[in-house]
Amino acid sequence: MLQYITAKEAAEKWNISQRRVSILCAENRIPDVAMLGNMWIIPRDAKKPEDARKTKSRKSANTARPFVKWAGGKTQLLPILKENLPENLGEGIKKYAEPFVGGGALLFALLAEYSFDEVYICDNNRELINAYTVIRDFCGELIQHLANMQSEYKSMDNLDKKQEYYYARRERYNTLSLNEETKIEKAALFIFLNKTCFNGLYRVNKKGNYNVPFGKHESPTICDTENLLKISEMLVGVTMRFCDYHDVLNFADADTFVYIDPPYRPLNATSGFTSYTEEQFDDTDQIELARLYGELSEIGARVMLSNSDPHNVDENDSFFDDLYSEYTVMRIDASRAINSKGNKRGKIKELLIKNY
Ligand SMILES: C[S@@+](CC[C@H](N)C(=O)[O-])C[C@H]1O[C@@H](n2cnc3c(N)ncnc32)[C@H](O)[C@@H]1O
Repeated sequence: MLQYITAKEAAEKWNISQRRVSILCAENRIPDVAMLGNMWIIPRDAKKPEDARKTKSRKSANTARPFVKWAGGKTQLLPILKENLPENLGEGIKKYAEPFVGGGALLFALLAEYSFDEVYICDNNRELINAYTVIRDFCGELIQHLANMQSEYKSMDNLDKKQEYYYARRERYNTLSLNEETKIEKAALFIFLNKTCFNGLYRVNKKGNYNVPFGKHESPTICDTENLLKISEMLVGVTMRFCDYHDVLNFADADTFVYIDPPYRPLNATSGFTSYTEEQFDDTDQIELARLYGELSEIGARVMLSNSDPHNVDENDSFFDDLYSEYTVMRIDASRAINSKGNKRGKIKELLIKNY
């Protein structure tokens, strides 16, 4: 009969991280591994698989997309973000942190291409972080919930019925409080609402109730089974925290790459979208964030930060240039159009600030 050791014991025996062991198990690189509850167990006499890492070849890249549409999502900017990654990523730099993870566009792109020893994500939206953890730990049950909702939604033959269904799901979501028993259903409702609401928004009222209206989608993909399964595998071993971004200081060290994508500073008083949660992110927060950026830099972490460029509306507004004067402040083409005056339509700039 096979004798087993835990992932922790295998990590110690092979002198690699526990996360690496979990990835090797998930990738079927170790024969006869098994799951005990949520934990991998490994045959005691299993051989350490060869290190086929550094960067994974693009051909075999296990690409995945964000599982939600998210305000400020970075999918469109991925090519330019990737061009600006620090050298040595996945080799000398073996840890990755994203303290404002949102939909995680860069997270999934990096997990597909690099092997990190440790990965950390954080967001102060509790429901979002719950969805990440449920996808990782209970993907099968989540898919069942989503597949049911998808077939119910699609079986309705007109938009009025779909609308009624949407508002009933929204009501259920707002009534259920998040706990151990409800977490899978809540994650499923969270994804369902994101796929069927107006424009994939996440907005809550003062009481914390989700209040985005129906999006009038005829036939959205509510359950993207293949993508969810890929994501679930990619998230094995990732540390997920529902908390404020300052917590990243407990994770980052000199071998860490940190990507910071906070709520953008509004370009003008009315263009601000800062309602991901009940709280706002104002200039005082941007200043505090710049202080944390400095602290991470002192630790030796490589840090890249995105934000809006105030020069789009006021060339004399040097808010970020002043805050980040010690670092490289780049102006890159954003994929979105400016939404104020007609004559200013077209591509606008965004900031990319690097300390390397
Ligand atoms: C611009 S979005 C990130 C978008 C993400 N890069 C993507 O590709 O989807 C900013 C995220 O920061 C989160 N957030 C806002 N304030 C925060 C705070 N104080 N600490 C941690 N996360 C925060 C929001 O919930 C939101 O998900």
